[in-house]
Amino acid sequence: MVDLAYRSLADYKQAKQQASAQPEGFWEDIANQFEWHQKWNKALTFDFHKPEVKWFLGGKLNITENCLDRHVKTQPNRTAIIFEPNDPKETAQHISYKELHSRVCRVANMLKKNGAKKGDRICLYMPMVPELAVTVLACARIGAIHSVVFAGFSAAALAARINDADCIMLVTADGGFRGAKVTPLKDIADEALTHCKSINTSIVLKRTGQEVAWNDIDVWWHEALAEVDDLCPAEIMDSEDPLFILYTSGSTGKPKGMVHTCGGYMVYTAYSFQNVFQYEKGDIYWCTADIGWITGHSYILYGPLAVGATTVMFEGVPSYPGYDRFWEVCAKHKVNQFYTAPTAIRALQKHPVDLVSKHDLSSLKVLGSVGEPINAEAWHWYDDNVGKNNCPIVDTWWQTETGGILITSLAGITEQKPTYATLPMPGIQAVLLDNEGNELVCKNEGILAIKHPWPSIARTIWGDHERYKNVYFSAYPGYYFPGDGALRDAEGNYRITGRVDDVVIVSGHNLGTAPIENALNEHPNVVESAVVGFPHDIKGNALHAFVITKDAVYDNEALVTALRALVAKTIGPIAKPDRIQVVSGLPKTRSGKIMRRILRKLASGEFDQLGDVSTLLNPDVIENIKRNN
Ligand code: PRX
Repeated sequence: MVDLAYRSLADYKQAKQQASAQPEGFWEDIANQFEWHQKWNKALTFDFHKPEVKWFLGGKLNITENCLDRHVKTQPNRTAIIFEPNDPKETAQHISYKELHSRVCRVANMLKKNGAKKGDRICLYMPMVPELAVTVLACARIGAIHSVVFAGFSAAALAARINDADCIMLVTADGGFRGAKVTPLKDIADEALTHCKSINTSIVLKRTGQEVAWNDIDVWWHEALAEVDDLCPAEIMDSEDPLFILYTSGSTGKPKGMVHTCGGYMVYTAYSFQNVFQYEKGDIYWCTADIGWITGHSYILYGPLAVGATTVMFEGVPSYPGYDRFWEVCAKHKVNQFYTAPTAIRALQKHPVDLVSKHDLSSLKVLGSVGEPINAEAWHWYDDNVGKNNCPIVDTWWQTETGGILITSLAGITEQKPTYATLPMPGIQAVLLDNEGNELVCKNEGILAIKHPWPSIARTIWGDHERYKNVYFSAYPGYYFPGDGALRDAEGNYRITGRVDDVVIVSGHNLGTAPIENALNEHPNVVESAVVGFPHDIKGNALHAFVITKDAVYDNEALVTALRALVAKTIGPIAKPDRIQVVSGLPKTRSGKIMRRILRKLASGEFDQLGDVSTLLNPDVIENIKRNN
């Protein structure tokens, strides 16, 4: 195992100091602990105005040699992945580093044999099974750029992502198990592919055994795999070659394909994983995320594997077959570090606490939280019942765009503070800005921004560098702008207060309101719509859609059902609004801009806190909305 962690407060303080005094040397020291075919000739070039960021220039490597080959040399029989299936009656798999290496090489050869090569984009639309992890790594092995699409997305959303990246290959499965549900992945993929011209081959894994239609481009995984061996030298990549694309929602209808590159991403995910969770040799670490999201990429796969850890991969959901599944799995595999989302904690908190206490959780050392602010009640429930007040909780703030955790405490090393992500990691220069872009000092509240690049910052939006510039670098020139607000206490701890743009975090999922509005507007009776978030006790936020219809609505229930189905079909079930309200009009400024601030208040029931409505063109609509709420 590789050890990149500070194990004491003194080491941590020293690192912080070095990182601010010599940021490049600081990262070079960390990068030096990896295997490179050729070392870089320059650590960093950047210009946030352009914007352009490059790390470890001229360095040559393959991330899979760092995640696999080097551990095969030193710890071949250590378990790399523990696979816990959806159905607890199905046997868990323990995949050693040696076995994982062999499986990855074999699948890499399968991809090559079916026409994939360095630089090609391969879309993965798969359930949370080991073959997904293996395919991700196999793409990296041959230098193909993986684009994993969460298996809960609809055919339309999948097609949009395949087309945006011009993927030449799809890897999918007949179906996927999630709780009591079976998702017909192949059927959905087939529908998507009727809208995609770029895919030449679709490799289909058999998971559920359900009947599937068969097309010319389809190849069974097991048949294709039988034709290749497991010898596959790694493609040598440049530090700045793309490793993957991962889509995230934005303030316009089109998802943003965030591009991460090989060298910097590897260095940062490994470094942050080990420091934040204080992972030690032999520990069992479990992150409950899906590999379809960045958390799964960075902290189920790449970060843990890069340091030689044992990482649990779970196919199911927290409620199946009972609301104690998480705790049962923790006890079963003797999990040491457990990393989940506040929405899951809030959902489990509603159930009797003996569902937690009946399981032996004594192996737990560290708890983590990610994806949205964790409220005090959930934090304390997690601390009391899961951690037994004996496990530090790391509240980790980061994003798809940042590639790795930027603000957090380090378990047991730095101080935690409930509801605060706390301090920027060594090497991360966070600041608070006012609306004019001035840096705020001391205790304050404002807009969170980052002043200096870190190795795993996304380099661009696939095919749209201009949008990358506009979204992240234009509002506050010279800074990376993540889109979150924050407050800072006198000790410098940050508390993330939420999004300051039109993205709503629902159950930890980042949802742009614009694509949902576009979906609603597709309905023949919808003229215009506006979607905003409102506080929800389990999901954190839920969605409230205001719609203006063309014709009078006589059957409200039928319309609501149709609209929710339309959103599920266009984006996926996760984006379905909780509430849909037919209104006579939307509050607008004189220039025709919808006043979302007012809609947010109305959706939250804060009728007497609408704030300044003097610029409102049509105040009468507010009364109408209040009456029908
Ligand atoms: O608003 C922040 C919230 O999630 C956003 C990023 O979403 P996504 O790219 O999907 O990545 C989620 C997993 C890293 C952020 O802009 N967020 C994430 N973690 C936290 C958080 N908000 C508060 N506290 C957190 N720990």
